[in-house]
Amino acid sequence: MMQELKNKFAESLKEVANTSLLEQLRVEFLGKKGLLTTEMAKLATLTPEQKKAFGREVNELRAYIVTMLEQKAAELQKHEMELRLKAEKIDITLPARQFVFGKLHPITAAINDLQKIFARLGFAAISDREIEDEWHNFTALNMPEHHPARQMHDTFYLQQEGMLLRTHTSSVQIRHMQNSKPPYRMISFGRVYRSDYDATHTPMFHQIEGLYIDKEVNLGHMRYCLEFFLREFFMVKAAPIRLRPSYFPFTEPSFEVDVLCDRSNKEEIRIGVGNDWLEILGCGMVNPQVLHNVGVDPCQYQGFAFGVGIERLAMLRYNIPDLRSLFEGDKRWVDHYGVNG
Ligand code: DAH
Repeated sequence: MMQELKNKFAESLKEVANTSLLEQLRVEFLGKKGLLTTEMAKLATLTPEQKKAFGREVNELRAYIVTMLEQKAAELQKHEMELRLKAEKIDITLPARQFVFGKLHPITAAINDLQKIFARLGFAAISDREIEDEWHNFTALNMPEHHPARQMHDTFYLQQEGMLLRTHTSSVQIRHMQNSKPPYRMISFGRVYRSDYDATHTPMFHQIEGLYIDKEVNLGHMRYCLEFFLREFFMVKAAPIRLRPSYFPFTEPSFEVDVLCDRSNKEEIRIGVGNDWLEILGCGMVNPQVLHNVGVDPCQYQGFAFGVGIERLAMLRYNIPDLRSLFEGDKRWVDHYGVNG
């Protein structure tokens, strides 16, 4: 009887492949209604003589079962742990995932640099709205009603009467002078909009606007600031400029500024060398009427302003041939012309 039970246990134990089956086997033999437990219950019905022999046998079998179960449990646990370790193994031979750093768009890179360059001259960076009213964009800047820039085909007007997308960053000069007291030394960067689209014009582009107003600011200061900024921006030893008389309603006198350049290589215009001139920006002494319009006394204060197209600067600096490519949003293009941040 005991031998039978022992064999049955030994057979079953061989089949056990995991700890939960092992537990089932334990219950089958040692549980409250287990096979061995039932045998042990028989003890009560035996004579003292029978008890002795039977008791020994049953206890031996019990000890055997307990030991075997413990052994098997240890074996299975070890095996299961090995399986788990294998399954959860981290394959450190895989190459690490690469970080791909994006590049800054040339316009962003140019703005960042210009901001730093002008900070060295003490110009504070100011920004303001792109949706303007006619007064800040035109009237306050002394641009009369009949000025061609005001025409529908040049300016994007909003449905709301008198509102438009700013056509230049000069409106920021006006906002800044209205918002604070002189002296002023500010630079502003941002998007501007005009109803234009061809190889050299996009309906949205970027400008810098500079303004320096104090009691004794003159054209000599303007010339120094412009030459400094061009030299630093193009990273050349010197960037000599030429002032050509021009006209802007908001400056008097007004100038177009040309920078010295070399165009002998068709592939690339070089700045600061050669004997050619390249038109690069507009500037002048702020018209007293403009100061008057924003409540600054033109008898006490004077100074200069300038406006530059950022696309032009970026195209020259990074040797980008086509203006429209700047706004196509092609990542391959940014990877090529972009700048590491
Ligand atoms: N606002 C002018 C434009 O968009 C650029 C400009 C010229 C700005 C002369 C100025 C300036 O501040 O003094 O064409």
